[in-house]
Amino acid sequence: MDGRPIGVFDSGLGGLTTVRAIQRLMPEEDIVYFGDTGRVPYGGRSKETIVKYARQDVAFLRSFDLKAIVIACGTVSTTALEVLAAENDLPILGVAKPAALAAAEATSGGKIGLIGTVASIRSGAYERFIKEARPEAQVMAKACPLFVPLVENGRFQPGDVVIETVVREYLTELKEARIDTLILGCTHYPLLEEVIGAFMGPKVTLIDAGAAGAEATKRQLTACAALAEPGRTGQSRYFVSDTAEDFTQLASIFLRQDVSGRVEHVDISRY
Ligand code: DGL
Repeated sequence: MDGRPIGVFDSGLGGLTTVRAIQRLMPEEDIVYFGDTGRVPYGGRSKETIVKYARQDVAFLRSFDLKAIVIACGTVSTTALEVLAAENDLPILGVAKPAALAAAEATSGGKIGLIGTVASIRSGAYERFIKEARPEAQVMAKACPLFVPLVENGRFQPGDVVIETVVREYLTELKEARIDTLILGCTHYPLLEEVIGAFMGPKVTLIDAGAAGAEATKRQLTACAALAEPGRTGQSRYFVSDTAEDFTQLASIFLRQDVSGRVEHVDISRY
């Protein structure tokens, strides 16, 4: 058993999809979350910048005594996981491989759609993991760069004409190609699950990368006998690099719990 917290990070709000899943699957775990809200989005930046930011995010989280770090960000998972894992002496887990494997298992006809940030799609990582598990699968990938800024601005609710228009614009070709499974390959996108699900229709299985990452984390902690004591109630703390207020409001809506008083500002440039 290991009572130390799990560190979780993302460029902003998106990693809360992983936090929500960890809280559901492992309610006894303590979580330290960092959202780099002062520098979001990461997805349109170069590999060098993403690696630099991710190193600082990990350095901040390592100021806590953690048992593992979950990269709750498709962009960092596809672009910087290997570098971070090589530099750190604690388990560093990502969301891309678990999501790709979940899609390879879920697909009925082998037609898999993938949406993510420009950096994630450019990396080709999701396709590689899918093909390893299911070589005959066809993967149609599409970068959706407007989704992250819209989500960060709270535009993720069904009925919001802006997000519904952008969803139609990005996803029409995947719908017309009759994919049966769609990987939400950026952890911000599960916040759009209702809007995307309504557009794609009930025959398309949506794979939530944040939730897939949380499931893989549970498997890993279980295998290493590193889960927290059963029956206890885990505590979560949240840190952001921009102001705490906006994050507090959106995080409370998304997590369906009031996180006021639990969000702190951190100057990430010091790490
Ligand atoms: N949640 C991040 C991801 O999963 C968003 C990336 C961004 O900041 O553009 O890719």
